[in-house]
Amino acid sequence: RDTGLVTLDEGFVNTASTRSAITYLNGEEGILRYRGYPIEKLAEQCDFIETAFLLIYGELPTRDQAEKFRSGIREHTMIHEDMKRFYDGFPTHSHPMAILSCVVGSMSAFYQDSIDPNDPYQVEISIYRMMAKLPTIAAYSYKKSLGQPFMYPNNSLNYCENFLHLMFATPTREYLVDPDFAEALNLLLIVHADHEQNCSTSTVRMVGSSNANVFASISSGINALWGPLHGGANEACVRMLERIANDGGNVRKYVDMAKDKNSDFRLMGFGHRVYKNRDPRATIIKASCDKLLGKLNLDDPLFEVAQQLEEVALKDEYFIEKKLYPNVDFYSGVIYRALGIPVQMFTVLFALGRLPGWLAHWKEMHDNPATRINRPRQIYTGSPERPFVAMNRR
Ligand code: CMC
Repeated sequence: RDTGLVTLDEGFVNTASTRSAITYLNGEEGILRYRGYPIEKLAEQCDFIETAFLLIYGELPTRDQAEKFRSGIREHTMIHEDMKRFYDGFPTHSHPMAILSCVVGSMSAFYQDSIDPNDPYQVEISIYRMMAKLPTIAAYSYKKSLGQPFMYPNNSLNYCENFLHLMFATPTREYLVDPDFAEALNLLLIVHADHEQNCSTSTVRMVGSSNANVFASISSGINALWGPLHGGANEACVRMLERIANDGGNVRKYVDMAKDKNSDFRLMGFGHRVYKNRDPRATIIKASCDKLLGKLNLDDPLFEVAQQLEEVALKDEYFIEKKLYPNVDFYSGVIYRALGIPVQMFTVLFALGRLPGWLAHWKEMHDNPATRINRPRQIYTGSPERPFVAMNRR
């Protein structure tokens, strides 16, 4: 198979790195399906745990399978007490994504009975552990930033409700979860759950291809997700909307700046490698924004700015010609703000949503006997062979 020929595809624009049966994405027509089911239907009729089951195991769960999956996850929601000590070592203002990747990485040390990628039983337990503990680990990074005590998970709540409880309850104050908040969060997690071979998922597969365990692979995926061109765009987008709002709401100025090749400013939450049409996730999220803000009777000035920005950009020749549309990160931050989630936690929320996708890809790769270690080639551009220069002659 080594032909000696190497093809260059900078940034993997045309190169498929694998075959996958998980997610279908058609960027020209703006279609996204998980295991054949349109994202719009799943967002409307499913909950996040059913969606996770679908992605990981390939089929929508029966009632019994769903219940078994849910109760299995519930069994693992607490984290090892010693893991909590990690949080003491981090500076108070650490970014929660930095904490998330470290603590997830540490799971390889704490749960050594589920790190063998070749033992199906261990793999199964590691999937439950990851799904169950990520919300707890994530919420503790927020509690750490506030200096508040960590809450134990509440297993009488569903997945989204429990996350909101972990974030916002205190030992002296119960947090009564608003069903509209849990519903909005459920929808956001579903639309983030997978997106085929994106940067973080490819990272999880790349790391996993060396037979690294699932915790190590996912910790790497979290780091890849953090970048502002990927999942970090949701935080960057809201910071940009704040900047525009504080600057008098002059969206035209920022659209022009994004077009200016002498500026490195880009419209965050705009553009996509694969979508050359509207990102279907952005459409679902925008509708959810409308619904939630309407229900809460909330007037978020950033939602106004976002809508104006979208309108101006979509009429602009530059954005039309380059086929740049709002992506998943454009409106999600407005919902997170309405839920009371602080901006530095936005990308952590993306990670919670993307987790089933990472697990599904990691598992698919391991279940495929044709998998080989991922090992891209390169085109060498350095110096040809040259004589060694001794230290006293350099
Ligand atoms: N604002 C202004 N110009 C843009 C933007 C933007 N947001 N996105 C792309 N362009 C221009 C870019 O300058 C380039 O112009 P030219 O052809 O003249 O050099 C052209 O469009 C193609 O862009 P690219 O950077 O070559 O495209 P890419 O496929 O390598 O990058 C992207 C895709 C998403 C990184 C990019 O569109 C971007 O930086 N967007 C802003 C960050 C963002 O919202 N990221 C979230 C992506 S969706 C969620 C996820 O998958 O994590």
